[in-house]
Amino acid sequence: MKECNAPIGVFDSGVGGLTVAREIIRQLPNESVVYFGDTARVPYGSKSRDTIIRYSRQIIHFLRTKNVKAIVIACNTASAFALDTIEKELEIPVIGVVKPGAKTAVETTKNKRIGVIGTEGTIRSALYTEYIQSIDPTIEVVGKACPLFCPLVEEGMLHDPVTDEIAARYLKDLQDENIDSLILGCTHYPLLRGTVAKIMGSGVHLVNPAYETALELGRLLQQKQICAEDGGKVEHAFYVSDAEEKFKDFANSIMPFQIELIEQIQIESY
Ligand code: DGL
Repeated sequence: MKECNAPIGVFDSGVGGLTVAREIIRQLPNESVVYFGDTARVPYGSKSRDTIIRYSRQIIHFLRTKNVKAIVIACNTASAFALDTIEKELEIPVIGVVKPGAKTAVETTKNKRIGVIGTEGTIRSALYTEYIQSIDPTIEVVGKACPLFCPLVEEGMLHDPVTDEIAARYLKDLQDENIDSLILGCTHYPLLRGTVAKIMGSGVHLVNPAYETALELGRLLQQKQICAEDGGKVEHAFYVSDAEEKFKDFANSIMPFQIELIEQIQIESY
């Protein structure tokens, strides 16, 4: 197979990264995706940097066995903790979701006050702040961890009074911060976009890193001249490290097509 027609490797701690995979599939319809969700070891949001780097190396090792031409770290926590290390070790292009999200927020803000919501790990890493301030040091960034959002999304409670109540409590601090842009800095949060938008109001622009990452990937493939050819065979494959059934139900509730085959692999052996 020509290198340009090889698939893109996309990975996340579990199901959340499907929000990134679906954007890639939507924006780059000629590209094939090999997705890996680390459902046996989720959540990443509460784990240490060293653990996330070790997990990411194993996953990349697995994805390389599928001859991927580029890798997208769809998980915000893994992008925050592992991208810098992984980048130096790989000879194929790799991108994370944090930089594209940060860049767009900088382009969006008018009053130079940006909010970021994410897992504890992402907020603790302060990487969004670092990237934003490396572009414009005068921008103030306010972070808020929202650890209950992921389980609520995975339980399918997207439109539920309990989710509304929890979101109102988490976002209260940010409402007082006069931000005009808010980064949805976790894979699951774009699925709560409506809830967050209602609470933050129309004066706050929501930045979805999944969308921005797919755009950035398109640019990168063009720059490296490895875009898949028109009219070629497009095939997506899905792998998990635990229980395919739960993954399948969630995946089929958010993807634009039905996923029939999901393969479980022993990620610790990579
Ligand atoms: N995928 C993770 C992220 O975007 C959220 C879920 C987890 O904590 O593993 O940070």
